Amino acid sequence: MQTVTQFLQAHQTEALETLKALLRIPSVSAITAHKPDVRRAAEFVREQLASAGLTTELVETDGHPIVYAEWLKAGDAPTVLIYGHYDVQPPDPLDKWVTPPFEPDVRDGCLWARGATDDKGQMLTHVLSVAAWLKAEGRLLINVKFVIEGEEEVGSENLDKFLAARRDQLRSDIAVISDTSQYAPNIPAITYGLRGILACEVRLHGPKQDLHSGIFGGAITNPANALTRLIASLHDAHGRVQIPGFYDDVLPLAAAERASFAALPFKEADFFASVGVTAGWGEEGFTSTERRWARPTCDVNGLAAGYQGEGPKTIIPAWASAKITCRLVPDQDPHKLLKSLGQFLQAQTPPGCRLEFAEQHGCPGFVADRNSPFMEAANAAIREAFGVAPVMIREGGSIPVVGTLKELLGVDTLLLGWGQNTDNLHSPNEHISVADFHRGILASALLWKEIGSKR
Ligand code: BES
Ligand code: ZN
Repeated sequence: MQTVTQFLQAHQTEALETLKALLRIPSVSAITAHKPDVRRAAEFVREQLASAGLTTELVETDGHPIVYAEWLKAGDAPTVLIYGHYDVQPPDPLDKWVTPPFEPDVRDGCLWARGATDDKGQMLTHVLSVAAWLKAEGRLLINVKFVIEGEEEVGSENLDKFLAARRDQLRSDIAVISDTSQYAPNIPAITYGLRGILACEVRLHGPKQDLHSGIFGGAITNPANALTRLIASLHDAHGRVQIPGFYDDVLPLAAAERASFAALPFKEADFFASVGVTAGWGEEGFTSTERRWARPTCDVNGLAAGYQGEGPKTIIPAWASAKITCRLVPDQDPHKLLKSLGQFLQAQTPPGCRLEFAEQHGCPGFVADRNSPFMEAANAAIREAFGVAPVMIREGGSIPVVGTLKELLGVDTLLLGWGQNTDNLHSPNEHISVADFHRGILASALLWKEIGSKR
């Protein structure tokens, strides 16, 4: 192991350069024009794994390719499945970036670029740690299987087919994913729960084209007015979501878990200040942490209607649309609730409008067993790399594959985030601390040793 640690020390600059090269590829999975870039990113990752000495494959899907790689020469030692994603969110709004999103820049101890933390930087820590083991020691103490996909940011719709088709090949003892965050600077975390999600797009169609609001206004339904009413009906005055059946299957929060959340260092005012607000909002009866990690929500992510250009324009718009997602907790069923949401909106659609409701994707929430030998291994690796023991947390984001791995392969996942929630993931000026990146690689390398000694 010492040779691995020394190798990592000696190759820090190279590791950072590899990340920068990957960050220069604008692999935005949501945007069709970036399809060739997405493929280039997949090939880059495959090439890294191949040159480290793994057997690799670029697997075609109906969407973006999946990188599969394996090294299975550790006999009956544990097998670890490492998942990550090489796709990124759109970089918009572009004018808010200090340096361009696909021109990685190091300043103030951080590397700035879209995907720096989510998930190219974090995913690469595992690729680089496995490469370090193979280059420094000539072997690993575990078997590894990498699944690096290019559609995580758009719901992982084509991944399930691959996982189902390769069930036997993917058999493993534990999965490891670094696509979450530390709890705070210098407070690393093991994340044992994630929220699920459901996503849809709603469009209200009104008149056949935009109309003069003086001539026609008041006599026909304005789809923009109508859509905002529908949206307003999604919550009551207590912050409770009004979709029928929404809370039926929600697993209540145990008193012990509420206590463990409350024991984490947290200053509400600092939390609000960190995102530039002076007050919070949410479901009555729950703390901000509970609302984010363990209670379901419903949010509009995008809203469009009518004239958006300069100056006034007096029209009744022909249509209005919204992108809506709900974050879900165990045991809510995304597909059942998508249906329920569609029916709820349809039932309230006023005469003179037609509702178009498009289901997009969904995955359930997840909570792992907190007391497994793998959790202990992760705890030891993080303690050694970060110099401090990790806290146990849940997170509010979603990683669809986690539920599928459990359901399809019966495999639990260790969620080990090396970044910070303040790294601006999905926002302008995304970054990762260079120190966190290197500590992440070291923690990953140590984890392979810890798991390898658990045979
Ligand atoms: N890395 C995030 C998820 C995340 C971030 C979890 C921080 C916990 C803390 C991931 O890439 C992501 O954003 N996922 C999407 C999934 C969705 C599109 C299905 C999300 O949560 O919005
Ligand atoms: Zn991610």
